[in-house]
Amino acid sequence: MRDAAPDQSNQTIYLRDYAPVPVTVTHVDLSFRLDPKATRVQARLTCARQGPGDMVLDGEGLKTISVAIDGTAITPRIDGDRMILTDLPDAFLLETEVEIAPQDNTALSGLYMSNGMYCTQCEAEGFRRITWMLDRPDVMATYDVEIEADLPVLLSNGDEKGAGRWHDPWPKPTYLFALVAGNLVATSDSFTTSEGRDVALNVWVRPGDEGRTSYALDALKRSMLWDEKVYGRAYDLSVFNIVAVDDFNMGAMENKGLNVFNSRYVLASPETATDADYANIERIVAHEYFHNWTGNRITCRDWFQLCLKEGLTVFRDQQFSQDARGFATQRIGDIMTLRARQFREDAGPLAHPVRPESFVEINNFYTATIYEKGAEVIGMLRTLVGAEGYDAGVALYFERHDGQACTIEDWLACFAEATGRDLSQFMLWYRQAGTPRLTVTEDFNNGVYTLDLKQTVPDTPGQTNKSPMTLPLAYGLLDATGTEIRPTDVFEMTDRAARLSFNLPEKPVLSMLRGFSAPVVLEFAQSDADRLILLAHDTDPFTRWEAGRALAKDRLMRAVAEGAGFDAGWIDAVATLATDADADPAFRALALALPSEDDLAASLHGSGVVPDPDAIYIARRAASHAIATRLASDLPGLRAACATPGAYDPRAEDAGKRSLSATLLRLQTLLDGGAAARAAYDAADNMTDRMAAFTCVLDAGDTEVAARFEADWQHDRLVMDKWFMAQVAHAAPNDAVDVASKLTAHRDFDPGNPNRFRAVIGGLTAGNPAGFHRADGAGYAFLADWLLRLDKANPQTTARMSTAFDSWRRFDADRQDLIRTQLDRMAGTEGLSRDLGEMVARMLA
Ligand code: PHE
Ligand code: ZN
Repeated sequence: MRDAAPDQSNQTIYLRDYAPVPVTVTHVDLSFRLDPKATRVQARLTCARQGPGDMVLDGEGLKTISVAIDGTAITPRIDGDRMILTDLPDAFLLETEVEIAPQDNTALSGLYMSNGMYCTQCEAEGFRRITWMLDRPDVMATYDVEIEADLPVLLSNGDEKGAGRWHDPWPKPTYLFALVAGNLVATSDSFTTSEGRDVALNVWVRPGDEGRTSYALDALKRSMLWDEKVYGRAYDLSVFNIVAVDDFNMGAMENKGLNVFNSRYVLASPETATDADYANIERIVAHEYFHNWTGNRITCRDWFQLCLKEGLTVFRDQQFSQDARGFATQRIGDIMTLRARQFREDAGPLAHPVRPESFVEINNFYTATIYEKGAEVIGMLRTLVGAEGYDAGVALYFERHDGQACTIEDWLACFAEATGRDLSQFMLWYRQAGTPRLTVTEDFNNGVYTLDLKQTVPDTPGQTNKSPMTLPLAYGLLDATGTEIRPTDVFEMTDRAARLSFNLPEKPVLSMLRGFSAPVVLEFAQSDADRLILLAHDTDPFTRWEAGRALAKDRLMRAVAEGAGFDAGWIDAVATLATDADADPAFRALALALPSEDDLAASLHGSGVVPDPDAIYIARRAASHAIATRLASDLPGLRAACATPGAYDPRAEDAGKRSLSATLLRLQTLLDGGAAARAAYDAADNMTDRMAAFTCVLDAGDTEVAARFEADWQHDRLVMDKWFMAQVAHAAPNDAVDVASKLTAHRDFDPGNPNRFRAVIGGLTAGNPAGFHRADGAGYAFLADWLLRLDKANPQTTARMSTAFDSWRRFDADRQDLIRTQLDRMAGTEGLSRDLGEMVARMLA
């Protein structure tokens, strides 16, 4: 029988075209006979009519062996990647058998192999690469799965019914299906839910990795408890499995009862993982677990509603991390990520609403906008309706929609009903793309302090003339001595312009956008004096940090644009904070970190200056050097004060000290040519300190250390990812492309492994902006070469990496020409994947 073709159509799919299926599937019975080259999949689908029309099933790259309806073999119409069944009864059993070759599956979507183990990835549309099915989230079915293979561990969703037999009683869409088979070992524990259910917990890894699972398991138990305490959500199966997979396109996947993780977000030991790795593991374990309710029990009606599960689940994992690690540093870190990734996306050709209205390839929409802006929108909703209103809305959502596939309208209706608020204007946060700009001007006259506020929402692809948004603006006022005279209040701005006035004896210091209460670009020419007061005294950790950041940004931008030097006033303020033993070390580290090169490029562009990547690099280095020089005699003592005696502990308190210590070592390196860093490298007894020292030594231009690192760690894939990335990210800008290119010839460079590909290529594009933007265009050509090379094998990872080009219109005409040449070259390449094709087309539009 004819094969289902790979899907190469480049058709745009629209939200407005959504229609429920005429015939649905209520139960799926699957049996797998696993074989690397010829896996057989038998599917028995219990089908039921719910409206008039044909049944159109999805299948991609399948070799169809047989199809039968109610036991009678048929020859169906197969049109590309669709199977069309007509004249169907109201209820029937559809049986199919197909053959697939997991070993040849390099796209890592569907059923594939990684290091001898079988695993699946079905979100968003990978299930159709396993068997014929209605591969869409509004078709929810119960599953029985049978796996036959000569392997010790055979896993699927739900509860185990016998060797290799699984039953999932909770109706779920195809994208939550999973199967894993291999030679795996588990670290196990158990958890008793608030409802009295005993749950077996397992973290499955390759033999040899068992010693690195305890942190993930601990994070899982804490997540389960947290979701019961904070959201009243208990787990609903007898087992919860986590599997670590080396080859994985994304971070992790929330398959029902069988979460599959990129191994870098599971495996950790003090010797191999950094504090950042530990924090990511904790966050992502929580994220995937929280999906069990926000995503699995209540799922999305269609992929346009992706933020329904992702924005909410990110918001929940951020809350969890704040509880686990401290509010201030967690919140500031999340805001830095939002700005670095989402604001950038929102300002360029890939901007799209939190709920998009069209797409070509859904995999291209797992974006910072859906995830991070989606989470901010929920944070604003909570600010607007209050903590109690939020709890009531969420409770209603769980009660009303459990077991359903929902929309953003369903979600907001729960809050409107629970709180009596009209949320129609708020809905614009889901519809309008672009980061709103909030302009603030202040005036003090005759005892009256006046604030004029104006908001505008910039044009984005396909959207102009936007309406004003609901902006919850948290603010407070300080007096000239830094004493708070007006605690936090939230002003709900709904119009394009607004004015606030206060009767006060003297001009206050405004602390605007506390907690970053709305994801906007704040344009407020606040005086240095006021910013210094905020930096020293503000009660809100975000605005306090932000004041320091604004001072730094202002200096750096002037250094780049006008060649201005760094004033002693600013350097003193930085030094005061750095040496403030009473301040939290993690906060001091954040306050000492200068705005990133990309952040400066974006801000310069926003202020009408064409950013020069080299000048930005030089200005940041000069600023660091000025700070280092000012602190020179303090540095050794400050670093010593960061010591964390005893064995390595990943807890936030110690991580904060290590982070400050690393920041100080980076400054020290600018003064001593890397002497202290070399000593720190030799003395390091954990990977956090080792990586900090390693990258400092590289910064100092000493590449010999790389050979030592390699000799020590070449057996360890995850550590070697760090080795690959660090060398590229910490190469001198002029060398970075050559370093990256040389590393792609290294015997351990495997572009088919997404982590390794991202380490080297991303090490350049994200880790070394001045190197990537080398004036002769070598960085651009290098990226395009690798995108074209990987596109055939793994279009998803390729398309994601292509976003490195999305800021191209910021730069000078020569660089724009060089990038356009590469974009055109890709666009003109025959057989380009739908994934990369869509990205390139959007970036060129
Ligand atoms: N749904 C996953 C998450 O956010 C992300 C993911 C998307 C993973 C698509 C794989 C494929 O947790
Ligand atoms: Zn998610």
